[in-house]
Amino acid sequence: MKANLKLSKQKQISKIDNRIFGSFIEHMGRAVYGGIYQPTHKTADDKGFRNDVKDLVKELNVPLVRYPGGNFVSGYKWEDGIGPVEERPRRLDLAWKSVETNEVGIHEFYDWSQEVGTEINMAVNLGTRGIEDARNLLEYCNHPSGTYWSDLRIKNGHENPFNIKTWCLGNEMDGPWQIGHKSADEYGRLAEETAKAMRLVDESIELVLCGSSSGQMPTFGEWELTVLDHAYEHVDYLSLHQYYGNHENDLEYYLARSLAMDEFIKGVIAMCDAVKAKKHSKKTINLSFDEWNVWYHSNEQDKKSKPWQVAPAILEDHYNFEDALLIGCLMIILLKNSDRVKIACLAQLVNVIAPISTEQDDDSPAWKQTIYYPFMHMSNFGRGIALLPELDCPTYETKDFNAVPFVESIAVYNDEESIVTIFAVNRSSETIDFDINLDGFEVTEIEESIEMAEFNIKADNNVNNQQVTPKSKDDVKFELNHVSMALKGLSWNVVRCSVK
Ligand code: AHR
Repeated sequence: MKANLKLSKQKQISKIDNRIFGSFIEHMGRAVYGGIYQPTHKTADDKGFRNDVKDLVKELNVPLVRYPGGNFVSGYKWEDGIGPVEERPRRLDLAWKSVETNEVGIHEFYDWSQEVGTEINMAVNLGTRGIEDARNLLEYCNHPSGTYWSDLRIKNGHENPFNIKTWCLGNEMDGPWQIGHKSADEYGRLAEETAKAMRLVDESIELVLCGSSSGQMPTFGEWELTVLDHAYEHVDYLSLHQYYGNHENDLEYYLARSLAMDEFIKGVIAMCDAVKAKKHSKKTINLSFDEWNVWYHSNEQDKKSKPWQVAPAILEDHYNFEDALLIGCLMIILLKNSDRVKIACLAQLVNVIAPISTEQDDDSPAWKQTIYYPFMHMSNFGRGIALLPELDCPTYETKDFNAVPFVESIAVYNDEESIVTIFAVNRSSETIDFDINLDGFEVTEIEESIEMAEFNIKADNNVNNQQVTPKSKDDVKFELNHVSMALKGLSWNVVRCSVK
């Protein structure tokens, strides 16, 4: 099979917002306790955070981490996590039927975020709480000094404000499982008034309004239109959440889930723009895809988890090679929509449906799941300008799509480094000859080329065996503005071309 990709320096989708390479840490399972924070671990720093986990997070180069939930935030009292640690209350976390010790709160998490070089995307509780608590939390985090909450932050050890820029107005408020679940009208009004009050505290913040918790929700569509109708002029982004799984063990269908993601994004953009037109607004609402990943491997196991444990091992998906291929496809779709998707969070970062895993003892090292690699490549090499891919490629059919291209691809032009990076997934089991035309560029060198290929589709990694890892790709040829290579059957490929 053959595939041709036409790229042009003149045909650009958008400058990519780095926050599209964001992730998520929720107070649940072993994400915080036993994940990023484990004072008894041999690599723990003087604050109890694991250095081996920090190193893997830094390699991923994550610019933004959503925190502290997720479903957890809808029952969270943020004040429980400030002040002397020994005085903090242990609480029932109703979202995950766990016990929250509150050893880690906003101060500890902020310090960790600074160490790994990321910003916090903070969620406020609009389930059991509301305007008052959201404005207090913002004042605590961002106001310099001289008020009750800002002075309390200083007393608790942080002279300088945290200056958190991006804020989520609740989490999945359309879901009946959500603590304090609301109708679209109830949530829309509350979000509108909370947004107004928060902006009075700090007008520089950006606000994310809750969209549907997945495209399959019965209220999908109606929810978006209603909540936007209420809050349109007071928010900046609408959120999307979606998880994928190979429940039917059908590889062709599974690898086409990125087309479903594309359809979902396009549908939500259409709704944002419909409300814009209806309101004659000058403002455009962008998207925050602040929960996305593969999540299904752990579903059965989690049904056996006992309630009211501290840090139960839940949602610990063990990812295989086909999951890594899908993650590559999904990230390509996010970049293809980077003119409107400005924030995205791989959910989550450590242990809970995550690219980084830890064991339950104090000696074993943190390790990389298969999905770690495509995310790391994209986050490190996918910064710059997304070029519009014009792809000519054979297709196949699934029960929901007539024409799934065997190749999924995007290219990113980093104009500061003069590098064009091509990302490509081959969804077929056959090798595909891939020719790329880079109109307006001259390729001077192949800086680096990487592939993940020739693995059993179900192969995975564990703490003792890192078998699914990238290798260098050695067949890439170039001449003037033309690059060619073979995409091995079922492969993830990254080719970095120096250009002038
Ligand atoms: O990421 C796990 C959970 O998935 C989050 O808490 C929730 O927002 C979503 O349903």
